[in-house]
Amino acid sequence: MFHVVDTEIFDRPLLDELCRLTTVVRSVAKSRDGARFLQELLPTKRAMLYFTQPSTRTFLSMNNACHVLGVRTSEIRDPEVSSEVKGESFEDSIRTFSSYVDLIVMRTPEPGYAARAAVLMESIPRPIPIVNAGSGKDQHPTQALLDVYTLERSFENDGGIDGKTIGMMGDLKRGRTVRSLCRLVRHYQDVRLVFIAPDAFEMEPDIKAFLDANNVEYHETARLHDALPELDAIYVTRMQSEHDIDDESSAVNLAPFTIGSYELDLIKPSGVIMHPLPRGSEIHPDVDRDPRAVYWRQERNGMWMRVAIIAKLLGAAEAIDAGASQFP
Ligand code: NCD
Repeated sequence: MFHVVDTEIFDRPLLDELCRLTTVVRSVAKSRDGARFLQELLPTKRAMLYFTQPSTRTFLSMNNACHVLGVRTSEIRDPEVSSEVKGESFEDSIRTFSSYVDLIVMRTPEPGYAARAAVLMESIPRPIPIVNAGSGKDQHPTQALLDVYTLERSFENDGGIDGKTIGMMGDLKRGRTVRSLCRLVRHYQDVRLVFIAPDAFEMEPDIKAFLDANNVEYHETARLHDALPELDAIYVTRMQSEHDIDDESSAVNLAPFTIGSYELDLIKPSGVIMHPLPRGSEIHPDVDRDPRAVYWRQERNGMWMRVAIIAKLLGAAEAIDAGASQFP
């Protein structure tokens, strides 16, 4: 694991390892001495957060995950303040960042840029890891990792993700979180997916072909109420209206794709409700009080999973394992 650009680098042992490490770091961090131990692991490392697309959770959780490990951070969140406005190429900008830091975490409104940055690293004398924190409509691998972790934790007394039926609802066409999650669930046994979306926002053919090629069972429906009783987890997403070309989001009636008190009655007692956040109106705030609503926990899991990812990329994972037993 040198870069985290694409979900394809993960296999089941690496997913299990990252989930295990996430649980270790969050438990070590609970005590003051443990938190200090973590903070002293990477005091000479620096990370660049290059986010040219809006972000609250991913930015803050990455930033704070770096700080948990003692990694200092710098940031560009607005391309208008970088030399790209003077005509500097993307590659030259990335190479410049790499002169100062040990890790680049990046989010872009267009797909493919994190991959380009990773390719650039092959040709420079001081390559550093690139983490894709969201690439346009395409991928969001670290979100998928925290989603896998949340699912594994939610079903830890019931065999984990293996054998579960997972619904994905909302804007599946343009939602990078569900696209990346689909690509990771193939590493679990007998997972079934149910895609619940308005016709115009169905899952794209490339992901369906990927699932077919990997023998992951899925079916599609626009009828949430029929699907809910069979789901172990429902992963809700918002309309990605920032990608609208012609106001197409507002042309859709989203009421049938919403979780409120009526829908809660249809969800299994052991079911979980997830959302990558931010939400629009697709989950009523009253749902937050239901113990099956795990999205706020999911959000916090994101920071711990990113600690595990950064530790692994910057070579601190072994030291964490070696030291963890001092902090029961
Ligand atoms: C997601 C994203 O940016 O793709 N947000 C996040 O990172 N938690 C989901 C979204 O914006 O809908």
